Amino acid sequence: MIYQVYPRSFADANGDGIGDLPGVTIHLDDLVDLGIDAVWLSPFYRSPQRDAGYDVSDYTDVDPVFGTLTDADDLIAAAHARGLRILIDIVPNHSSSDHPWFQEALASPPGSPARARYIFREGKGQYGEFPPNNWQSVFGGSMWTRVTEADGTLGQWYLHIFDTSQPDFDWTNPDVRDMFEGVLRFWLDRGVDGFRVDVAHGLMKHPDLPDIADPAHTGLGTGDAADVQPVPYWAQDSVHEVYRDWRALLETYPGERVLVAEAWVEPITRLSDWVRPDEMHQAFNFSYLATAWSANELRQTINDSLAIFGSVGAPTTWVLSNHDVVRHATRLALTGDHPQGDGIGPDTPNLPDPIAALRRARAATTLMLALPGSAYLYQGEELGLPEAIDLPGDARQDPTWFRTNGERYGRDGCRVPLPWTSTGPSYGFNDTGASWLPQPDEWHRHARDTQRARATSTLNLYRHLLHLRRQLNLGHGNVQWEHDTYPDVLALRNRDILVMTNLGTDTVILPPGEILASSVPLTGHELPADTAVWLRT
Ligand code: BGC
Repeated sequence: MIYQVYPRSFADANGDGIGDLPGVTIHLDDLVDLGIDAVWLSPFYRSPQRDAGYDVSDYTDVDPVFGTLTDADDLIAAAHARGLRILIDIVPNHSSSDHPWFQEALASPPGSPARARYIFREGKGQYGEFPPNNWQSVFGGSMWTRVTEADGTLGQWYLHIFDTSQPDFDWTNPDVRDMFEGVLRFWLDRGVDGFRVDVAHGLMKHPDLPDIADPAHTGLGTGDAADVQPVPYWAQDSVHEVYRDWRALLETYPGERVLVAEAWVEPITRLSDWVRPDEMHQAFNFSYLATAWSANELRQTINDSLAIFGSVGAPTTWVLSNHDVVRHATRLALTGDHPQGDGIGPDTPNLPDPIAALRRARAATTLMLALPGSAYLYQGEELGLPEAIDLPGDARQDPTWFRTNGERYGRDGCRVPLPWTSTGPSYGFNDTGASWLPQPDEWHRHARDTQRARATSTLNLYRHLLHLRRQLNLGHGNVQWEHDTYPDVLALRNRDILVMTNLGTDTVILPPGEILASSVPLTGHELPADTAVWLRT
């Protein structure tokens, strides 16, 4: 069970409004109490924070906003002392434009070795005034930015899949590979147990950098499905060599050190490429995250996931929320199409009723935590936090918001600092009241302290499920579908636990058995809509 800490928003020990590493260390016992096995920390490296730390200017130092290297060492030691493993986020696709290598590249002429570490090209048109191709940044706008050369003239263009401030490395360049091997060693030597690899499907680009037929609709496609066009910067075969080298490097270290791929690839059949025996250990199952609240669709995704990960002997993974998507306590009740990372806001039509949405989220988590494999939790979901929808425009910080002139709200709504206490400035996030994103007024209702004291709270549901999951060893079980009596009820067995999830609208009668857990308190031996139950039969 891996718990994602997004350090900016977890807990702020120095009161500057941005969470930090000492804040994480202070609260490790709360995570032990929750019942997790490992913590994955989103980036805390030195960074100008133009994409919340996913824009790294020094991979071997801690940004002062988050603390110091000593704070990182202390956190690793304190986690290990509690039996928790620590995974950190490595961001190899791009650096910050403040990285010394990129600054050197800007100061060097076209064709120089410094430029060859990134992807610089001449523009098209008589004066090179058009970008080298038609690729669109994931955050909106062109994927190319033109530089001004040292002599003051407009010059080459550089590629950035994300923001202008995140130039992509050229991973065919041995300098880049060597640098990252050094970075991995640096953190492995400090005791980290592994890495979540950011944009693990994007490092290699098609060598010709060809135009895309429909640049506005690239999705995450690998081109393997008939309805998905191939995208020349996702899932190129050559990317796998990198991870084979990294795996070999990790295996020279004592203990079990792991690699986890953040690879948004479709269709899911391709995901197994990232977790072959000599590559990464796990990959996020974003197909599961993206599956609609529908019995048929969930059954299909669960089956596909087990088959696909199982085909290469890797554990299946499950995830419902992270720092890039609308929190599942809101998302699962949304109607309409909401592409990942686009966010929702005050003008989004048909916003769901938060109480009904939370009910559904609790059922979804109750189902997920019964499935064999590794589950990933995102900080705050154990509090049932909804997406913060009413963030004012001038508070928003996601580059997506700026690059699309507010057309896409972006991801700030899932990144608001956590409420720890129902009273006090910033609800216990710190003791000054400063907060890099404003916390909604009603967040006192979600505070950890009051939830801990309330038997039926979402926090206590998570605690109960996580402890039971460990005790019953469900993570190492398997899925057997029960004969479906009701079309909208998913019924599966893992070990001797029968898990039933009602995705329909009618209450159904439960089979005989002892109720070990239910997503909401049950009044009789029946399962209402949007409810899940674990039964020992
Ligand atoms: C991270 C995002 C980040 C992007 C660029 C990802 O997929 O999870 O938060 O903005 O990579 O690094």
